Amino acid sequence: MGLLAGKKGIILGVANDHSLAWYCAKALHEQGAELAFTYQGETLERRVRPLADSVNSKFVQQCDLGNDEEIKNVFEKLGKEWDRLDFVIHAVAFANKAELEGHYVDTTREGFRLALDVSAYTLTAVAKYAVPMMNHGDGGSIVTLTYYGAEKVVPNYNVMGVAKAALEASVRYLAADLGEQKIRVNAISAGPVRTLAAMGISGFRDMLKHVADRAPLKRNVQADEVGKSALFLCSDLSSGVTGEVLHVDCGYSIMGM
Ligand SMILES: NC(=O)c1ccc[n+]([C@@H]2O[C@H](COP(=O)([O-])OP(=O)(O)OC[C@H]3O[C@@H](n4cnc5c(N)ncnc54)[C@H](O)[C@@H]3O)[C@@H](O)[C@H]2O)c1
Repeated sequence: MGLLAGKKGIILGVANDHSLAWYCAKALHEQGAELAFTYQGETLERRVRPLADSVNSKFVQQCDLGNDEEIKNVFEKLGKEWDRLDFVIHAVAFANKAELEGHYVDTTREGFRLALDVSAYTLTAVAKYAVPMMNHGDGGSIVTLTYYGAEKVVPNYNVMGVAKAALEASVRYLAADLGEQKIRVNAISAGPVRTLAAMGISGFRDMLKHVADRAPLKRNVQADEVGKSALFLCSDLSSGVTGEVLHVDCGYSIMGM
């Protein structure tokens, strides 16, 4: 029997088969979880539906997480299909490409608002609607994806670093709020992985080389290693862990020089 047999979870943020959300989905499915998916817009629907089919998912819905009505609708629909929710994977971030190059000091007010809204606030918005379905007594797990640029300055990451810092603080506040309901909230701070979102960051290839040269494991993290960590955080193996930022980065973040 799998670690997640009988458990149900929703995956937010699959764009294609390179997405970290998809690697999380595969790891969770392999351990017996039943999955629901959301996608952002028709173009991504064409990629997400076949992936969802391949893990026998029956629930695949459009959801722009920048829109509260759409989030509400998704969880209302999910509540009609499922009588419980055990985990949520939030793997969503967005900033205008122009904000992900050059200097942070040039960040626009609108670019700041958009990056913080989509990349940080959406976790809180999703938690609000997901929690009633997680109140079945067995507890639940909410997992988000963050990056080292929240802690230290990473060239070109700019406003996304500020958004990830807000996201990590949100993880701690949500963990404190939801602990009594046995709902755990954690983040995975993943090392750089070649995905659609990552390729929007100026100089991303240099980042991969820099990390592989300096990380204790002398390589970059693989997407399936992020998936396995999501499995740990969604399963009972991590029952005592909440409010945590788990670095899955081949050790890069421990290095001083
Ligand atoms: N790839 C990396 O190097 C890396 C490292 C650390 C953390 N992360 C984080 O992992 C998460 C997933 O990114 P990824 O690298 O797998 O890239 P990805 O492009 O595959 O996924 C990003 C997802 O965000 C979704 N999204 C953006 N705006 C949205 C909105 N308004 N509503 C709904 N969905 C929206 C996109 O549709 C896409 O599915 C992000 O939070 C990213 O910051 C990525």
